Amino acid sequence: MGKVSILGLVLAVLGVLAGEFVCNGDTLYINCSLSDRKSLTDFKHGLEDPENRLSSWKGTHCCQWRGISCDNTNGAVISVDLHNPYPVSSAESSTRYGYWNLSGEIRPSLLKLKSLQHLDLSLNTFNNIPIPTFLGSMRSLRYLNLSEAGFSGAVPLNLGNLSSLEFLDVSSPFSGLAVSSLEWVRGLVSLKHLAINGVDLSMVGSNWLGVLNVLPHLAEIHLSGCGLSGSVLSHSSVNFTSLSVIDLSLNHFDSIFPDWLVNISSLSYVDLSNCGLYGRIPLGFSELPSLQYLSLAMNDNLSASCSQLFQGSWKKNRGSQFGCK
Ligand SMILES: *[C@@H]1O[C@H](CO)[C@@H](O)[C@H](O)[C@H]1NC(C)=O
Ligand SMILES: *[C@@H]1O[C@H](CO)[C@@H](O)[C@H](O)[C@H]1NC(C)=O
Ligand SMILES: *[C@@H]1O[C@H](CO)[C@@H](O)[C@H](O)[C@H]1NC(C)=O
Ligand SMILES: *[C@@H]1O[C@H](CO)[C@@H](O)[C@H](O)[C@H]1NC(C)=O
Ligand SMILES: *[C@@H]1O[C@H](CO)[C@@H](O)[C@H](O)[C@H]1NC(C)=O
Ligand SMILES: *[C@@H]1O[C@H](CO)[C@@H](O)[C@H](O)[C@H]1NC(C)=O
Ligand SMILES: *[C@@H]1O[C@H](CO)[C@@H](O)[C@H](O)[C@H]1NC(C)=O
Repeated sequence: MGKVSILGLVLAVLGVLAGEFVCNGDTLYINCSLSDRKSLTDFKHGLEDPENRLSSWKGTHCCQWRGISCDNTNGAVISVDLHNPYPVSSAESSTRYGYWNLSGEIRPSLLKLKSLQHLDLSLNTFNNIPIPTFLGSMRSLRYLNLSEAGFSGAVPLNLGNLSSLEFLDVSSPFSGLAVSSLEWVRGLVSLKHLAINGVDLSMVGSNWLGVLNVLPHLAEIHLSGCGLSGSVLSHSSVNFTSLSVIDLSLNHFDSIFPDWLVNISSLSYVDLSNCGLYGRIPLGFSELPSLQYLSLAMNDNLSASCSQLFQGSWKKNRGSQFGCK
């Protein structure tokens, strides 16, 4: 009873505050900056949009346009979210079918959005065009999602100039995207989340882990099905103090088990299934305090003492599966 009335009071107070804000009619809309509006309009003209998703992209209130968010103080566009909300995934097919897919050209008019922090073009069908190189000049970006958007060719190395980028997702299973070297990733000094699932990394050489090891904020690594090979072997010093999620499944390392993983106490999700590991599973997994998910399935020659491995703190963990022999 007491809780309910306090909640009521809080809502009433919020209502008064919001009322004051909204009642002043003009402040209902943040006026978007004229130059940002022009950039968006030009960008729109490059796109093919048969379903008329961007029908709201007209008039002066560009902060109200679908997928657009602005900075409340100056009306600068900070987010362009044009991910396809209605993709129909089809596991058998090599393409994504979408009802609301955009395609066409990605015009460099986006570059004029000087405050843009968030760009999401995922799940569209940009028929095998390359990822535009100019994206590497959008220094204010913190979030870039190009996953399963129909891009192909080489991922531009100058994305490494995006030193504010925290989230990068270029995952594209079955597409023709490839990366010849990961050295550029060193420039992404703010990176927290890296997803390159399904992109061909077979050319990057054996130091891919060393490159990621210098990124101090990295919390998620998604490198599933990338054609990685060679060792994931001993790392003399592991820097990954924030690492929570690592997915290296569906590669063919032919490597002894990476023992250093059990030194990363922040790990909560580890998928090393089907990636050609052999040797002993380190017992330390049972002591990782936050581990929720561990998959080591489909590695030919892993061994462990199951009785020892399942001691420790496992009881509270769920979703674990083993290739225990
Ligand atoms: C937005 O622009 C209109 C004129 O187009 C003006 O009357 C209004 O005060 C502006 N609002 C803000 C919040 O600047
Ligand atoms: C949307 O996807 C379908 C199926 O892949 C394709 O036939 C169609 O051309 C796409 N639409 C656009 C605008 O690209
Ligand atoms: C990128 O977009 C896809 C599809 O919309 C989504 O599933 C994924 O979580 C996004 N990635 C990030 C890092 O937010
Ligand atoms: C961005 O990266 C590329 C390739 O790594 C580099 O040549 C270029 O000088 C960098 N700076 C700018 C502003 O593009
Ligand atoms: C650990 O990270 C720092 C900077 O984040 C880097 O200078 C150092 O070389 C890294 N250590 C290893 C072994 O890569
Ligand atoms: C992992 O931790 C053990 C014991 O704490 C230590 O001996 C070993 O050097 C560490 N390994 C790495 C790769 O940091
Ligand atoms: C598995 O490992 C053992 C010893 O580590 C080795 O004798 C055996 O040949 C390996 N089997 C396969 C299929 O690699």
